[in-house]
Amino acid sequence: MYAERISGLKSSAIREILKITSRPGIISFAGGLPAPELFPGKEIAEAAQGIFAKYGTSALQYSVTEGLLALREKISAMLDTDTSHTGPQNIIITHGSQQGLDLISKLYLEKGRFVFTETPSYLGALQAFRLFEVDILPIASDEDGIQPQSLLKALKKQRPDLIYLMPNFQNPTGVSLSLERRMQIVDIVKEHDLLLLEDDPYGDLFFSGQKMPSLFTLGSSRNFIYMSSFSKTIAPGLRIAYLAGDEAMISKLAVVKQGTDLQTNTFGQYLVNEYLESNKYDSHKDLLRQTYKQRRDCMLAAMDKYFPGSVSWNCPNGGMFLWVTLPGHYVAGDILLNCLARNVAFVPGQEFFSDGSGQNTIRLNFSNATPEKIEEGIKKIGEVLKEAGI
Ligand SMILES: Cc1ncc(COP(=O)(O)O)c(C=O)c1O
Repeated sequence: MYAERISGLKSSAIREILKITSRPGIISFAGGLPAPELFPGKEIAEAAQGIFAKYGTSALQYSVTEGLLALREKISAMLDTDTSHTGPQNIIITHGSQQGLDLISKLYLEKGRFVFTETPSYLGALQAFRLFEVDILPIASDEDGIQPQSLLKALKKQRPDLIYLMPNFQNPTGVSLSLERRMQIVDIVKEHDLLLLEDDPYGDLFFSGQKMPSLFTLGSSRNFIYMSSFSKTIAPGLRIAYLAGDEAMISKLAVVKQGTDLQTNTFGQYLVNEYLESNKYDSHKDLLRQTYKQRRDCMLAAMDKYFPGSVSWNCPNGGMFLWVTLPGHYVAGDILLNCLARNVAFVPGQEFFSDGSGQNTIRLNFSNATPEKIEEGIKKIGEVLKEAGI
């Protein structure tokens, strides 16, 4: 009795792994989870009290579909607006950026058509797109992100409904799109009059230098949609994220969202708004950057110490993930089974390749576990790798 589009739907292997990793005592590098001890719990509790003092029970009422105006004003001010002139009319608040992916898919994806992604790409996005019965075309990517020449080559054969990219510390590899390529991609998108969705939950978590300009800012036209989230910089349980784009598109998205959930949780929006007003967000992001950098460094040092010489990995300059490559013929899924038996988990990279390649790759999350647990977990993975003859 299920709809036809459900027939291709399979449960994500990551969700299954995450179920196992919730068992006590396991060291998990599997989820994309922020460090729970850094959640600003006290500040959020204070924000909640402040809301009732300021707004009474209106913070519990239905609200507008686009989202709380005060919050949209703050978001538009936060966005790099040098060239994009973003105002609250260009923003819609969503229940996590995962909902943003669903709403954009509903608005733009036509059955049987194409979505272009970098390779590998975020599994949650691939799942959201697949529900709309599109074909996902992986475009060749390297340590500087998606390759403009490969994109041009693909465009000679197909015109996609959507190009989906994560230019900053992407999930799963931690790779960022270089500035030179950002400009090339922007030119290609404009020249071919395409639609590009930029998903940027990790951009503020840079470990050195500063944030690179977004494609949305560089492109500054209706061809670019920007999406970000407070999940990684405040707390994912609040489920507050946003999409930014052309005003006409935002109006259409609001109609689509009405059919989905009427609006994003009013109280959650007030909480984020109040928290942003308390001016603690910047120092909180500094703390996250410092802590995650330490954890990345700890993981890199432990891999140097415990992993066999034939295994390689990258060193992302931000975000929450790094990417490990085993020698060609090894299968990370087999290694995982032996690691789980020793109470340590990761996600095999193959999950993130829409064409089923990447069997010998591993995504490691470094934000969630403490340095001690990182050392212990990496040591165990190193033992399993050596036992497998790597
Ligand atoms: C690239 C990317 N996009 C979107 C999401 C979904 O985030 P949320 O719905 O919590 O905003 C994630 C979560 O890990 C992600 O890594």
